[in-house]
Amino acid sequence: MSMNEYIGIDLGTSGAKFLLVGADGKIIADSLQTYPVHYPKGGWSEQNPEDWYAAVLRGIKALVCGRDASRVRGISFGGQMHGLIALGSDGSVLRPAILWNDGRSAEQTERLNTVIGKDRLSACTANIAYAGFTAPKVLWMRDNEPELYARIASIMLPKDYLVYRLCGRKVTDVSDASGTLFFDVKNRRWSNEACEFSGVKPEWLPEIKESYEKAGVLDADIARMFGLRGDVVISAGAGDNAAAAIGTGTVADGDCNISLGTSGTIFVASDKFVLPENNALHSFCHANGKYHLMGCILSAASCNAWWSDGILGTKDYSAEQAGLEEICGNNHVYFLPYLMGERSPHNDVNARGAFIGMRPDTTRKHMTLAVLEGVAFALRDCAEAVKKNGIVINSVSVCGGGAKSALWRRIIADVLNVKVRRLSVDEGPAYGAAILAMTACGEYADVSEAAKKFAADESAACPDKARSAAYEKRYAVFRSLYPALKDSYALMNE
Ligand code: XUL
Repeated sequence: MSMNEYIGIDLGTSGAKFLLVGADGKIIADSLQTYPVHYPKGGWSEQNPEDWYAAVLRGIKALVCGRDASRVRGISFGGQMHGLIALGSDGSVLRPAILWNDGRSAEQTERLNTVIGKDRLSACTANIAYAGFTAPKVLWMRDNEPELYARIASIMLPKDYLVYRLCGRKVTDVSDASGTLFFDVKNRRWSNEACEFSGVKPEWLPEIKESYEKAGVLDADIARMFGLRGDVVISAGAGDNAAAAIGTGTVADGDCNISLGTSGTIFVASDKFVLPENNALHSFCHANGKYHLMGCILSAASCNAWWSDGILGTKDYSAEQAGLEEICGNNHVYFLPYLMGERSPHNDVNARGAFIGMRPDTTRKHMTLAVLEGVAFALRDCAEAVKKNGIVINSVSVCGGGAKSALWRRIIADVLNVKVRRLSVDEGPAYGAAILAMTACGEYADVSEAAKKFAADESAACPDKARSAAYEKRYAVFRSLYPALKDSYALMNE
């Protein structure tokens, strides 16, 4: 086994996670660097790409400082998907990045789905429009910021901006490009037709690579700054969910991973291209050369962070969750986790969070539990779409910040009625990115092989019959709540 080392970076929404990983898959060092999200208006969310770049420099420094940096052979990324980074002809950023959970482009989304039409969108790109996707954001810029739009020379996705800063190459990968709505997922190439109706000029677009392919070589000045070699390979990387799937060994046909980060996703690997019924799931390229289906809820672990840190004022999640198990399945409070609107399955930027069912005997415990349960119910909505496509999920791996809660893992097992496996490494995207870097450097011949080799189960939560049955009844109530509130949500945001 070589002594080579690899850096995997997860460009998340609340911060970036950095891992230094040996060629044998062992984690040598890690670092977390945070940056702010800006919410200039309700339902809008933006970040400054310069903050990401500064975090990357700090993170690499933290990993290699005091170590033999010459062992590092490759760097790769998993990145928050869909965000629009627009650059002018001198390579400078024209406006703050508009993020994956930003709902400002409702009108453009609606126009794409009705005027161009879902059938045509689906035929060109395998997907329909959601406000989070990149195409409606480009149209929003065209409609609302025409002067800036006229200055666009290139556009890219969040992690691609970092690849560009690190090696000067404008490159994206197939998994991240899949979430733009101007990419032909089936054939793994940009769609000229979709570019046209998305207001995108083909010359703006980065070069397409597979996730494990080399994008370029680390800039010599940056390499010198950290004592790194002059030939460190930057690989194309992947969207964070595809990277998480690599990091959790979710690579064989039907393998499923749930990610509990700022967003929540259900990701199902597929050997073949699949067009899901009614486009109820995203159909995207996988980072291993194949495909995947995915449902995405916009607020997952972020609901718990909002409730615990923001409202209750505590960061001690395990203390806050102690003793909640006794009321699991028996809670009378419901929580709708739509803090940023919702993507799957409602596609509604107006939806908002709600607590429902409170009584005089309702306590803080009931409300905290309702938050965890509400996220699990929203994931169950996505799992139902998976089922409708004839896919049977018997077991899922779980990663992301929320996966650290044993209680939450058990609730998900009971609500989805599946075995929920926790892996010995649950750093999904950053670990997957390191595996992509290893593959790009020839350490492993095949991403899937490396991913399976490194993924080891640590523990599993199996569904409890009685609690699953109780949750089945509660889920029926949960399902009835969004339709009842839909019109009021629209009025609230008028
Ligand atoms: C996936 C999605 C989110 C972001 C979060 O479609 O929008 O999971 O990638 O980082």
